[in-house]
Amino acid sequence: MILITGGAGFIGGNFVLDWLANPSAEGIINLDKLTYAGNLATLECLKNDSRHQFIHGDIGDQGLVKQLLAEHKPRAIVNFAAESHVDRSIHGPADFVQTNIVGTFNLLECAREYWNALEGQAKEQFRFHHVSTDEVYGSLSASDPAFTEKNSYEPNSPYSASKAASDHLVRAWFHTYGFPVVTTNCSNNYGPYHFPEKLIPLVILNALDGKPLPIYGDGQQVRDWLYVGDHCSAIREVLARGSLGETYNIGGWNEKANLDVVKTICSILDQLRPRADGKSYAAQITFVKDRPGHDRRYAIDASKIERELGWKPAETFETGIRKTVQWYLDNPQWVEGVVSGSYRDWLQKQYH
Ligand code: NAD
Ligand code: DAU
Repeated sequence: MILITGGAGFIGGNFVLDWLANPSAEGIINLDKLTYAGNLATLECLKNDSRHQFIHGDIGDQGLVKQLLAEHKPRAIVNFAAESHVDRSIHGPADFVQTNIVGTFNLLECAREYWNALEGQAKEQFRFHHVSTDEVYGSLSASDPAFTEKNSYEPNSPYSASKAASDHLVRAWFHTYGFPVVTTNCSNNYGPYHFPEKLIPLVILNALDGKPLPIYGDGQQVRDWLYVGDHCSAIREVLARGSLGETYNIGGWNEKANLDVVKTICSILDQLRPRADGKSYAAQITFVKDRPGHDRRYAIDASKIERELGWKPAETFETGIRKTVQWYLDNPQWVEGVVSGSYRDWLQKQYH
């Protein structure tokens, strides 16, 4: 049994589905608060799978976390739970401090107490895997080398500052208490079940809806895109064979400027679902006010995980983005379920 937090979100949900696609995989306890970003529709196909148990709750709830650990005795915890959207962190940082910092602290403390009471092999094999981001390293100029695990932390947004703080806690729990942790810092993910407040799903859905495709600033900010299935396979490798106390950067070797990403999506949609008027979806591109403090470039040097654990991404950006666009075209029901309620309120606040 492993305990996953945030497993109803984008990456956590993909991780749970990929993990349980293996018929001999251990069961999962999935603890998720179901914020606006949590969506049980993503896990619909598991509703009759006894290997998956969903628990609605907060990683900051000490009583609940202790009870889950005592009852299910997981051999590992993978912590995906977080507030994850940079723009939301600018409008309202409090939830980010609460979940990403205080919540992670609570999880660490409960898990440490649980681990302390374990014995023998169970104690030796226990792992706490913290899922983090490349944004903790700050912003690169065009000529800087990509982030390695040795880069200093220079977070620039409330989101990245809260993730950096959680990474520091995890590191300290290893050094001070010998608590068995591994941390991964990953670049921008994309793929199925991605909540459409983030660039790629937002652009796909706005394009199909005939709405503007909002590009912040000049659109020349660079991100290093990784297909979500590749992130999940990297986490499985690190969880299985990563060295305790180590951090591993995960990335796709796919640096792209935002404007190029959006143009690529438009041209795929032009082929797969041409507009009725024969024009390209690129006609919907609109430049809007930039994000405050917008980081210019992220790039991950993923050579450590390749060298030490033999992990490499399976998808290129070209194959991954085509699959992703096709997935959104093939899954209107999931999309419909998501494009409602608080998501609409958020769009109103952000773009009007
Ligand atoms: P997401 O916003 O899609 O999902 C987060 C999930 O966490 C949701 O299901 C939400 O309900 C749950 N959650 C939030 N607060 C909680 C709490 N207090 N207790 C329990 N559950 C809670 O996020 P994501 O994009 O899937 O990101 C998952 C993790 O990966 C995050 O830690 C994020 O920082 C990290 N990450 C994301 C990316 C990316 O590109 N999306 C890249 C690198 C790292
Ligand atoms: O780098 C990893 C990070 O990637 C994760 O830690 C975060 O959880 C995840 O949200 C993501 O952060 P970004 O801020 O890079 O992702 P987002 O999809 O919000 O934006 C990607 C780029 O596109 C960024 O430069 C901002 C720009 N953008 C975004 C939106 C939503 C636009 O130009 N227009 C938009 O409407």
